[in-house]
Amino acid sequence: MSNLHPQLLQRLHAAVGAAGLVLDDAAKAPYESDWLRKWNGRSSIVVRPADTAQTAAVMGICHDTHTPVVTQGGNTGMSGGATPDASGAQVVLSTQRLNRIRSVDPLNNTLTCEAGVLLAHIQAAAQEVDRFFPLSLGSEGSCTIGGNLATNAGGIAVLRYGNARELALGLEVVLPDGRVWHGLRALRKDNTGYDLRDLFIGSEGTLGVITAAVLKLSPRPVARATAWVGARDIAALVQLLARLRADCGERLVAFEMLSAPSLALILEQVSEVRAPLAGEHAFHALIELADTQGEGLAALLERSLEAALENACVQDVALSVSGAQTQALWKIREGISQAQMRAGKAVKHDIALPISALAAFVQQADAALQAAQPGVRIINFGHLGDGNLHYNVLLPRDTPPEALAAATARFNRIVHDLVAEAQGSISAEHGVGQLRRDELRHYKSEVEFDLMMRVKQSLDPNQIMNPGKLI
Ligand code: FAD
Ligand code: MLT
Ligand code: ZN
Repeated sequence: MSNLHPQLLQRLHAAVGAAGLVLDDAAKAPYESDWLRKWNGRSSIVVRPADTAQTAAVMGICHDTHTPVVTQGGNTGMSGGATPDASGAQVVLSTQRLNRIRSVDPLNNTLTCEAGVLLAHIQAAAQEVDRFFPLSLGSEGSCTIGGNLATNAGGIAVLRYGNARELALGLEVVLPDGRVWHGLRALRKDNTGYDLRDLFIGSEGTLGVITAAVLKLSPRPVARATAWVGARDIAALVQLLARLRADCGERLVAFEMLSAPSLALILEQVSEVRAPLAGEHAFHALIELADTQGEGLAALLERSLEAALENACVQDVALSVSGAQTQALWKIREGISQAQMRAGKAVKHDIALPISALAAFVQQADAALQAAQPGVRIINFGHLGDGNLHYNVLLPRDTPPEALAAATARFNRIVHDLVAEAQGSISAEHGVGQLRRDELRHYKSEVEFDLMMRVKQSLDPNQIMNPGKLI
């Protein structure tokens, strides 16, 4: 800690007390690596403020002392955004103790809570008042709403309810200089100037610390209908998606895709998992309808899928007939991420394309990767209903770091060039963090990058918020 400002520790201690500081190396360790152990760093101090006033005091001190700050929520991020660098000079500001649900207003359909509340706890609190908070991710038991908003998280219900940005009405943010922006408005309409809320959402801890949010609740669905389908290609699944949207309207909540190699990963690794369909199919989709009315949902899904079978849109269909079957189908989908991690080293791409461009993209990207490295293992899955693919390349577990870095650069260029050609995004839902920072610089136009830099400079003139991430 020799390079730290001499009064930093003493001033932070005065601001948050001993309970708000983590100084011991072993106790700091969990805050210094991401959950994949892909990024590892070192922090000078981990600070855990207990409320907004303490967070403001911490930021005021870091501003005065030019101390860099990495905000961390549940540490489940996929892009290394919450991990400090290796210098040992960065303070990690953990939101773990900002964990109160401040109020729930069922008539206004809103819930106000602090940034460190776990996503699963928000879902449960909404359910207690017979409402629904629709953001849903595989990490929901560990990720925080502050992290969800800072990364503008997506997940499995974006098709129907939108991503985190669309689920927030107001924010409270501690600015880099320690001032507090009290933007906790519970309004659906507010045209009083620039949209500061949307500036902080998706800013990955580079503009301020989100300390609380007003979230939008929805009516609670009481019925679900779930099916698994097999199809010969992505084009067929895109046709099916259009049909389901026409037939089922807003009841269509999820349309998740898995390629055959993605499904095979789970089947290889998890003995209790059974293949949902008997035959072989190049692509699979997990489809879910939900409604606030109980009647007729399964029949609606069945009719729509029968028509799709007749039109050869899909090759086979399995409708879930019980809660246990539905759970088993979701377990397959939600297990891919971990299965992929166990199987080897993944070069991950989190891309978004217009849905109409998905089929051509997959064909071109598959061909280009196979040409670059014959036999390459492509693990393609994701939120097809949102045009968001996790189009990953899996390398052997023993791939040395230099070979992994070289392969990553090569595969990134192939995949991201094709994404850019199709007017897509190289970061759909996981954020930029460290993982895609240089790629962002490569693909953002000069004008857009310049505007982003000006925003950063005006809000964080001392450049203390999450340096080395995003921008
Ligand atoms: P962290 O990892 O702690 O932080 C992420 C970023 O946000 C960092 O840049 C950090 O500095 C910043 N940050 C955190 N809290 C704040 C705050 N209060 N104020 C300002 N900045 C802050 N993501 C998806 O979008 N869709 C998925 O389907 C999905 N599935 C996942 C499945 C698994 C099994 C796992 C492990 C992760 C998955 N993720 C998914 C990624 C991850 O869970 C999300 O990015 C999540 O939003 C991160 O929340 P967190 O609290 O863990 O944030
Ligand atoms: C998912 O959709 O399962 C997540 O975003 C996780 C991942 O991409 O690995
Ligand atoms: Zn995802």
